[in-house]
Amino acid sequence: MNRTPQVIVVGAGIVGCAVAYELARRGARVQVIDRRDVGQGATQASAGILAPYIEAHSHTALLDLGERSLALYDQFVASVVEDSGSTVQYARTGTLEVATDELTVSRLEAIGEICAARGVVAELLDARGAREVEPQLTTRVQGGLLVESHGFVGVSDLTAALQRAAVAHGVSFVASTSVTRIVAEGHGIRIETENDGFTCEQVVLAAGSWSGQVDVNGAASVPVRPVRGQLLYLGWPAPSLKRVVWAPGCYLVPWDDGSVLVGATVEDVGFDERATVVGVRHLLEVTCEIVPQVQHASFKEVRVGLRPGTPDELPVIGPSTRVPGLVYASGHYRNGILLAPLTATIVGDLILDCKQDSALKTTSPLRFGDC
Ligand code: GLY
Repeated sequence: MNRTPQVIVVGAGIVGCAVAYELARRGARVQVIDRRDVGQGATQASAGILAPYIEAHSHTALLDLGERSLALYDQFVASVVEDSGSTVQYARTGTLEVATDELTVSRLEAIGEICAARGVVAELLDARGAREVEPQLTTRVQGGLLVESHGFVGVSDLTAALQRAAVAHGVSFVASTSVTRIVAEGHGIRIETENDGFTCEQVVLAAGSWSGQVDVNGAASVPVRPVRGQLLYLGWPAPSLKRVVWAPGCYLVPWDDGSVLVGATVEDVGFDERATVVGVRHLLEVTCEIVPQVQHASFKEVRVGLRPGTPDELPVIGPSTRVPGLVYASGHYRNGILLAPLTATIVGDLILDCKQDSALKTTSPLRFGDC
């Protein structure tokens, strides 16, 4: 006879997998349910950039979360690698954010000051300095900001390793199963799917853009909306870039195998996961302007993901008021990969130790009313 799982995690993206792994590692019985397979949705399209001082420099609450999660990353990857026996591409080789006009140079100076105030090493470079660091940059570059603590992680490696590590700790995964409703039932929780149902003691809702579509005790869940991102996967003519390059309108992530991921569009088009000519053309044009060498790249693939956006661009992490035992871990928008270790720690502490992390003050679903 199957044991009743203690915790069901709804969603097998990076956040759901990280939460499941953390809970199981710390002794919980965990099952993960997803409408697709592991690591699909926004996760499979993520470039894996770990760069809070780019993504969140003007959003202090998000920067605090990103900074904390980045500090957990070395240990997180080491632990997943050890428990899974897998290799994960992970590089803290820094980011170079570049400017091709005076306004952006001023913006980079302001970000450099924010980094300095937080004790983060960030080096402002002039045009020559930026091209010395990345010789393939356009001659139109006017300056750059080098943040050495930034980096990137191979997302498909990491997700597969998280699944293996979670399974090694007893987690089971149920694919192709859409959760439609979560309701309080007696002292537990009932999860309804299109054809079936499950009961458990605790639920973590980590279904990304689809989180808002789950009915929680008779009402819509949190206000999470899809924001489409298209990314290009290119074969790069050697030599490749040395680190992540971030420019107005695009970013480039050089992988060990010589390929480069170029992202990303930001489109408000609902649940439309199609790649488009206009999206691909835009990315190619802006990338060729920054790194003309892109013209000689081979075209491997377009990837499309729906980022789970929230009205204040902060994730939704914390307990539900409607269903006791339900915890949200969603709405990570552009930073799901970066924030996965911190989210897993916060949710693990909450569920297993009843410990309220200070971050819950800003991430709680209650900021959107009764959820
Ligand atoms: N974090 C990069 C993006 O969402 O495009």
